[in-house]
Amino acid sequence: MGRAPTRYRRDMRVHAVEHPLVTHKLSVLRSADTPSPIFRQLADELVTLLAYEATRDVTVAPVEITTPVTTMTGAKLSRPRPIVVPVLRAGLGMLDGMVRLLPTAEVGFLGLKRDEETFEAITYANRLPDDLSDRQCFVLDPMLATGGTLIATIRYLFERGARDVTCVTLLAAPEGIEAMRQAIGEDSRVTIVTAAIDEKLDEKGYIVPGLGDAGDRLFGVVD
Ligand code: URA
Repeated sequence: MGRAPTRYRRDMRVHAVEHPLVTHKLSVLRSADTPSPIFRQLADELVTLLAYEATRDVTVAPVEITTPVTTMTGAKLSRPRPIVVPVLRAGLGMLDGMVRLLPTAEVGFLGLKRDEETFEAITYANRLPDDLSDRQCFVLDPMLATGGTLIATIRYLFERGARDVTCVTLLAAPEGIEAMRQAIGEDSRVTIVTAAIDEKLDEKGYIVPGLGDAGDRLFGVVD
Protein backbone atom coordinates (compact mmCIF):
# COMPACT_ATOMS: atom_id res chain seq x y z
CA MET A 1 0.00 0.00 0.00
CA GLY A 2 1.04 3.60 -0.39
CA ARG A 3 2.38 2.97 -3.89
CA ALA A 4 1.29 4.89 -6.95
CA PRO A 5 -1.62 3.16 -8.70
CA THR A 6 -0.63 0.88 -11.61
CA ARG A 7 -2.20 2.46 -14.67
CA TYR A 8 -3.67 0.16 -17.30
CA ARG A 9 -3.32 2.42 -20.31
CA ARG A 10 -4.20 5.99 -19.54
CA ASP A 11 -7.91 5.62 -18.95
CA MET A 12 -9.58 3.15 -16.62
CA ARG A 13 -7.25 2.55 -13.67
CA VAL A 14 -6.38 -0.94 -12.48
CA HIS A 15 -4.63 -1.15 -9.15
CA ALA A 16 -3.38 -4.53 -7.93
CA VAL A 17 -2.55 -3.91 -4.28
CA GLU A 18 0.90 -5.17 -3.32
CA HIS A 19 1.24 -5.78 0.38
CA PRO A 20 2.48 -8.83 2.31
CA LEU A 21 -0.70 -9.02 4.40
CA VAL A 22 -2.81 -8.99 1.24
CA THR A 23 -0.69 -11.77 -0.27
CA HIS A 24 -0.84 -13.80 2.94
CA LYS A 25 -4.60 -13.55 3.40
CA LEU A 26 -5.24 -14.19 -0.28
CA SER A 27 -3.05 -17.32 -0.20
CA VAL A 28 -5.10 -18.75 2.68
CA LEU A 29 -8.33 -17.83 0.85
CA ARG A 30 -7.18 -19.63 -2.28
CA SER A 31 -6.50 -22.90 -0.48
CA ALA A 32 -9.23 -25.49 -1.08
CA ASP A 33 -8.73 -26.60 2.56
CA THR A 34 -9.90 -23.27 4.02
CA PRO A 35 -13.40 -23.71 5.48
CA SER A 36 -16.23 -21.15 5.03
CA PRO A 37 -15.95 -19.46 8.46
CA ILE A 38 -12.23 -18.75 7.97
CA PHE A 39 -12.84 -17.81 4.35
CA ARG A 40 -15.47 -15.24 5.40
CA GLN A 41 -13.24 -13.75 8.07
CA LEU A 42 -10.24 -13.46 5.76
CA ALA A 43 -12.31 -12.00 2.92
CA ASP A 44 -13.59 -9.40 5.39
CA GLU A 45 -10.07 -8.47 6.52
CA LEU A 46 -8.79 -8.41 2.95
CA VAL A 47 -11.55 -6.06 1.83
CA THR A 48 -10.68 -3.61 4.60
CA LEU A 49 -7.10 -3.54 3.33
CA LEU A 50 -8.37 -3.02 -0.24
CA ALA A 51 -10.85 -0.38 0.96
CA TYR A 52 -7.96 1.74 2.19
CA GLU A 53 -6.65 1.94 -1.38
CA ALA A 54 -10.09 2.12 -2.99
CA THR A 55 -11.02 5.23 -1.00
CA ARG A 56 -7.87 7.15 -1.84
CA ASP A 57 -9.85 9.61 -4.01
CA VAL A 58 -12.96 9.86 -1.86
CA THR A 59 -13.99 13.51 -1.72
CA VAL A 60 -13.59 15.56 1.43
CA ALA A 61 -14.55 19.12 2.31
CA PRO A 62 -12.83 21.52 4.69
CA VAL A 63 -14.32 21.77 8.15
CA GLU A 64 -13.47 24.01 11.10
CA ILE A 65 -12.70 22.05 14.26
CA THR A 66 -11.74 22.92 17.79
CA THR A 67 -9.07 20.76 19.37
CA PRO A 68 -8.40 20.90 23.14
CA VAL A 69 -5.61 23.35 22.24
CA THR A 70 -6.78 25.53 19.36
CA THR A 71 -8.95 25.72 16.26
CA MET A 72 -7.94 24.48 12.83
CA THR A 73 -9.29 23.53 9.44
CA GLY A 74 -9.66 19.78 9.05
CA ALA A 75 -11.46 17.73 6.40
CA LYS A 76 -14.49 15.48 6.47
CA LEU A 77 -16.17 13.29 3.88
CA SER A 78 -18.28 15.58 1.73
CA ARG A 79 -21.91 15.22 0.68
CA PRO A 80 -23.54 13.52 -1.09
CA ARG A 81 -22.28 10.51 0.81
CA PRO A 82 -20.54 7.69 -1.05
CA ILE A 83 -22.63 4.67 -1.89
CA VAL A 84 -21.43 1.09 -1.53
CA VAL A 85 -22.98 -1.43 -3.91
CA PRO A 86 -22.39 -5.11 -3.15
CA VAL A 87 -23.32 -7.25 -6.13
CA LEU A 88 -25.45 -10.11 -4.80
CA ARG A 89 -24.73 -12.65 -3.66
CA ALA A 90 -20.96 -12.94 -3.29
CA GLY A 91 -20.45 -9.16 -2.91
CA LEU A 92 -22.35 -9.34 0.40
CA GLY A 93 -19.33 -11.11 1.87
CA MET A 94 -17.34 -7.93 1.24
CA LEU A 95 -19.80 -5.42 2.70
CA ASP A 96 -18.72 -5.36 6.36
CA GLY A 97 -15.06 -5.03 5.42
CA MET A 98 -15.86 -2.01 3.25
CA VAL A 99 -18.23 -0.12 5.53
CA ARG A 100 -15.79 -0.59 8.41
CA LEU A 101 -13.74 2.14 6.72
CA LEU A 102 -16.71 4.07 5.32
CA PRO A 103 -19.34 3.80 8.09
CA THR A 104 -21.33 6.82 6.85
CA ALA A 105 -21.70 5.48 3.32
CA GLU A 106 -25.12 4.42 2.10
CA VAL A 107 -25.57 0.87 0.85
CA GLY A 108 -27.50 -0.14 -2.26
CA PHE A 109 -27.90 -3.64 -3.62
CA LEU A 110 -27.76 -5.02 -7.11
CA GLY A 111 -28.46 -8.66 -7.93
CA LEU A 112 -26.73 -9.84 -11.07
CA LYS A 113 -25.90 -13.38 -11.99
CA ARG A 114 -24.06 -15.02 -14.80
CA ASP A 115 -25.93 -16.97 -17.44
CA GLU A 116 -23.73 -20.07 -17.24
CA GLU A 117 -23.98 -20.64 -21.01
CA THR A 118 -23.55 -17.15 -22.44
CA PHE A 119 -21.72 -15.76 -19.37
CA GLU A 120 -23.88 -12.61 -19.77
CA ALA A 121 -25.09 -10.70 -16.73
CA ILE A 122 -28.80 -10.92 -15.83
CA THR A 123 -30.30 -8.47 -13.29
CA TYR A 124 -32.61 -10.18 -10.77
CA ALA A 125 -32.67 -7.62 -7.91
CA ASN A 126 -32.22 -3.87 -7.64
CA ARG A 127 -32.34 -1.75 -4.50
CA LEU A 128 -30.56 1.45 -5.48
CA PRO A 129 -31.62 5.11 -5.55
CA ASP A 130 -32.82 6.21 -9.03
CA ASP A 131 -30.77 9.36 -8.79
CA LEU A 132 -27.07 8.84 -8.18
CA SER A 133 -26.05 12.35 -9.28
CA ASP A 134 -22.58 13.21 -8.06
CA ARG A 135 -22.33 10.04 -5.98
CA GLN A 136 -19.06 8.18 -5.65
CA CYS A 137 -19.88 4.48 -5.97
CA PHE A 138 -17.92 1.54 -4.61
CA VAL A 139 -18.96 -1.72 -6.25
CA LEU A 140 -18.12 -4.94 -4.41
CA ASP A 141 -17.76 -8.14 -6.40
CA PRO A 142 -15.09 -10.65 -5.38
CA MET A 143 -14.33 -12.04 -8.83
CA LEU A 144 -13.71 -10.02 -11.99
CA ALA A 145 -13.90 -12.98 -14.39
CA THR A 146 -15.42 -12.21 -17.82
CA GLY A 147 -16.25 -8.66 -16.73
CA GLY A 148 -19.92 -8.98 -17.78
CA THR A 149 -21.35 -8.27 -14.33
CA LEU A 150 -19.15 -5.30 -13.61
CA ILE A 151 -19.64 -3.77 -17.06
CA ALA A 152 -23.44 -3.99 -16.63
CA THR A 153 -23.21 -2.57 -13.11
CA ILE A 154 -20.97 0.34 -14.09
CA ARG A 155 -23.22 1.25 -17.03
CA TYR A 156 -26.24 1.15 -14.76
CA LEU A 157 -24.59 3.46 -12.19
CA PHE A 158 -23.46 5.98 -14.81
CA GLU A 159 -26.93 6.01 -16.43
CA ARG A 160 -28.20 7.19 -13.06
CA GLY A 161 -25.63 9.95 -12.77
CA ALA A 162 -22.81 8.43 -10.69
CA ARG A 163 -19.77 10.66 -10.49
CA ASP A 164 -17.21 7.83 -10.47
CA VAL A 165 -17.15 4.09 -9.86
CA THR A 166 -14.49 2.11 -8.01
CA CYS A 167 -14.79 -1.68 -8.25
CA VAL A 168 -13.26 -3.65 -5.40
CA THR A 169 -12.47 -7.26 -6.24
CA LEU A 170 -10.46 -10.00 -4.60
CA LEU A 171 -9.25 -11.43 -7.91
CA ALA A 172 -9.27 -10.26 -11.51
CA ALA A 173 -8.66 -12.19 -14.73
CA PRO A 174 -6.76 -10.50 -17.58
CA GLU A 175 -9.67 -11.39 -19.90
CA GLY A 176 -12.11 -9.52 -17.66
CA ILE A 177 -9.87 -6.46 -17.43
CA GLU A 178 -9.54 -6.48 -21.21
CA ALA A 179 -13.33 -6.81 -21.66
CA MET A 180 -13.80 -3.84 -19.34
CA ARG A 181 -11.21 -1.87 -21.20
CA GLN A 182 -13.01 -2.58 -24.49
CA ALA A 183 -16.41 -1.64 -23.03
CA ILE A 184 -15.58 1.33 -20.82
CA GLY A 185 -11.79 1.59 -20.87
CA GLU A 186 -11.77 5.16 -22.06
CA ASP A 187 -13.67 6.25 -19.01
CA SER A 188 -11.23 7.60 -16.46
CA ARG A 189 -14.05 7.69 -13.90
CA VAL A 190 -13.63 3.92 -13.47
CA THR A 191 -11.07 2.32 -11.16
CA ILE A 192 -10.53 -1.34 -10.31
CA VAL A 193 -8.82 -2.20 -7.05
CA THR A 194 -7.95 -5.87 -6.67
CA ALA A 195 -5.83 -8.08 -4.44
CA ALA A 196 -4.31 -9.84 -7.49
CA ILE A 197 -4.52 -10.26 -11.24
CA ASP A 198 -4.48 -13.98 -11.99
CA GLU A 199 -3.34 -15.93 -15.02
CA LYS A 200 -6.45 -16.63 -17.10
CA LEU A 201 -10.02 -17.91 -17.27
CA ASP A 202 -10.73 -21.59 -17.85
CA GLU A 203 -13.36 -22.90 -20.28
CA LYS A 204 -16.05 -22.66 -17.59
CA GLY A 205 -15.27 -19.01 -16.89
CA TYR A 206 -13.44 -19.68 -13.62
CA ILE A 207 -10.37 -17.67 -12.71
CA VAL A 208 -7.13 -19.71 -12.75
CA PRO A 209 -5.52 -20.32 -10.29
CA GLY A 210 -8.34 -18.44 -8.56
CA LEU A 211 -10.15 -19.55 -5.43
CA GLY A 212 -13.13 -21.39 -6.86
CA ASP A 213 -16.71 -20.15 -6.63
CA ALA A 214 -16.54 -17.18 -4.26
CA GLY A 215 -20.27 -17.28 -3.43
CA ASP A 216 -20.16 -20.97 -2.55
CA ARG A 217 -17.01 -20.58 -0.49
CA LEU A 218 -18.52 -17.67 1.44
CA PHE A 219 -22.05 -18.94 1.90
CA GLY A 220 -22.11 -22.61 0.89
CA VAL A 221 -23.60 -24.25 -2.19
CA VAL A 222 -27.21 -23.31 -3.00
CA ASP A 223 -28.87 -25.24 -5.83
N1 URA B 1 -16.99 -16.36 -10.15
C1 URA B 1 -16.44 -17.06 -9.12
O1 URA B 1 -17.01 -17.16 -8.04
N2 URA B 1 -15.24 -17.65 -9.35
C2 URA B 1 -14.57 -17.57 -10.50
O2 URA B 1 -13.46 -18.11 -10.62
C3 URA B 1 -15.16 -16.83 -11.55
C4 URA B 1 -16.38 -16.24 -11.34
